[in-house]
Parts: sequence; C-alpha cells; structure tokens
Amino acid sequence: MSSELRLLLLSLTLLGLQAVPSRGACVEVDSDTEAVANEGFKLGCISCKMRGEVRATAAVSWFFKAAEDTDFSLLYTYMNREGSIRDPRFEERLDWNGSKKTEDLQDGSIYILNVTFNDTGNYTCTFERTLIYTNYEYQTNTSKSIYLRVVPKLTRGMASILSEVMMYVSIIGLQLWLLVEMIYCYRKISAAGEEALRESEAEYLAIASESKENCAAEQAAE
Ligand SMILES: *[C@@H]1O[C@H](CO)[C@@H](O)[C@H](O)[C@H]1NC(C)=O
Ligand SMILES: *[C@@H]1O[C@H](CO)[C@@H](O)[C@H](O)[C@H]1NC(C)=O
Ligand SMILES: *[C@@H]1O[C@H](CO)[C@@H](O)[C@H](O)[C@H]1NC(C)=O
Ligand SMILES: *[C@@H]1O[C@H](CO)[C@@H](O)[C@H](O)[C@H]1NC(C)=O
Ligand SMILES: *[C@@H]1O[C@H](CO)[C@@H](O)[C@H](O)[C@H]1NC(C)=O
Repeated sequence: MSSELRLLLLSLTLLGLQAVPSRGACVEVDSDTEAVANEGFKLGCISCKMRGEVRATAAVSWFFKAAEDTDFSLLYTYMNREGSIRDPRFEERLDWNGSKKTEDLQDGSIYILNVTFNDTGNYTCTFERTLIYTNYEYQTNTSKSIYLRVVPKLTRGMASILSEVMMYVSIIGLQLWLLVEMIYCYRKISAAGEEALRESEAEYLAIASESKENCAAEQAAE
C-alpha cells in the first residue's frame, strides 16, 4: 500500500472514530436553541451523575416563561417513569425524550411535537437527584436554561443553497486537514529517508574500502 493511501485510510478511520459516540458515557451537550415553526423540536437537557457507582433516583421539572410572561410557570414534570404536561398551552404537544429505562435519569430532554411562534421564550429544566447511600440520602438540584427562538421554515431554495455551501466548506476543511497531515508525514518520512541514506552511504564506503583491500591483496598475491 502506498503511504498516501495508508494516510488517507488512517484519516478516514480517525474521522469514523470521532463520529461514533462511546456508549454509556454521559456527556452534557447543550440544547439547540433555534426551532422551526410547525416542526418538531427537542429541548435538550442532560445532567450527568457525578458518582456513577452510587444508586440514585431523579425527577425532572421543566419551567417555561414566554416572551410576554412575567414569571416562569411549570411546564412538564417527569418522575417514577411518568411524564405529565402541566401547561395547557402545550396540551398534547409535548413528549418525553429523556432516559426511559432507568430511575436514575441523566437525560431529561423533552420534545415539542409542533412548534408555534408562541413557544419562543425561556425554558429551565431542573433535576432533583437523590443519591442513596447505605445510611443516608443526599439531594442535589441542578438547573439549566435555554432561550428558544422560533424561526420560519427555510424555503427549499435557501435550504439547498445552505447545504451546498456547508458541503463545500466541509470538503475544503477536510482537504486542508489532510494536506497538513500529509506535509507532516512527508517531513517525517523524508527525515527518516535521509537517515537511511546516510546509513547506506556509510555502508557503501565500507564495502568500497573492503573491496579496495581485497583488490590490493589480490594484486599482492599475483
Ligand atoms: C402544526 O400546527 C399547525 C398550526 O397549528 C398545523 O397547520 C400543522 O398541520 C401542524 N403540523 C403537524 C405536523 O401537526
Ligand atoms: C431569558 O433569559 C435571559 C437570561 O436569563 C434573559 O436575558 C432574557 O431576557 C430572557 N428572555 C425572555 C424572553 O424572557
Ligand atoms: C423524541 O420524541 C419524538 C416524539 O415522540 C419521537 O419522534 C422521537 O423519536 C424521540 N426521540 C428520541 C431520541 O427519543
Ligand atoms: C399565540 O398567542 C396568541 C396570543 O396569546 C393567540 O391569540 C394565538 O392563538 C396563539 N397561537 C397559537 C398557534 O397558539
Ligand atoms: C431541591 O429542590 C427541592 C424542590 O424544589 C427542594 O425541596 C430541595 O430543598 C432542593 N434541594 C437542594 C439541595 O437545594
């Protein structure tokens, strides 16, 4: 295999590895903050447990404050594996998108089925987590805020232009990265090559002097 091809394969493998999230690990990714009207949107909220080995239970509450509201009001609660919508403005429009199989929730995301412009505003999610030790329990609360903006649906033309631009940007980025990688490797290879050359030069000289000696010996023998 040529070194360029190997390099390319290596780069692709590295890219592939980056794309695969490690299973089971909890990562606190921030939520998207821009929703498109009349489409679904996931309000993300992840709170990772600090002490993985300790048993815990968690309940999640979401609060919402629309642009014209003066205060936050209860939007959604999830506890004991059951979610309930508490705000009539979101009747039949919310779904749980968080952890499903465990009492020890780390993902408290919810999903708005059909976003309206009235959904613009501030959202807060709160985790009330109880760590259960053998002799006592310990409660911690964590909160996260999201300011959600609702935008009209992109027209088809806009969307396709945008995705095309994104495609070119990512291709150029990838190529630049490959180029840098190749220059780096080329330098390493040529440095190694020089060393090999120096070595073979020394070897050549040794052989040459050896054969000179042989030659002299042969001449002496004659
Ligand atoms: C979302 O709501 C709008 C207006 O309320 C309605 O016209 C549209 O059909 C709904 N879309 C879906 C997917 O439910
Ligand atoms: C949302 O919260 C941020 C920061 O707490 C605040 O600056 C902003 O005015 C709020 N927006 C609305 C619509 O309440
Ligand atoms: C989130 O909920 C929506 C609506 O129920 C569903 O279509 C979607 O697959 C869910 N996503 C995840 C990651 O659970
Ligand atoms: C948005 O709010 C306004 C004012 O409260 C209301 O008249 C309108 O029906 C709401 N729109 C939707 C799609 O819920
Ligand atoms: C967490 O929140 C709950 C309910 O809001 C409250 O009763 C409790 O005291 C809080 N715990 C801590 C450690 O702040």
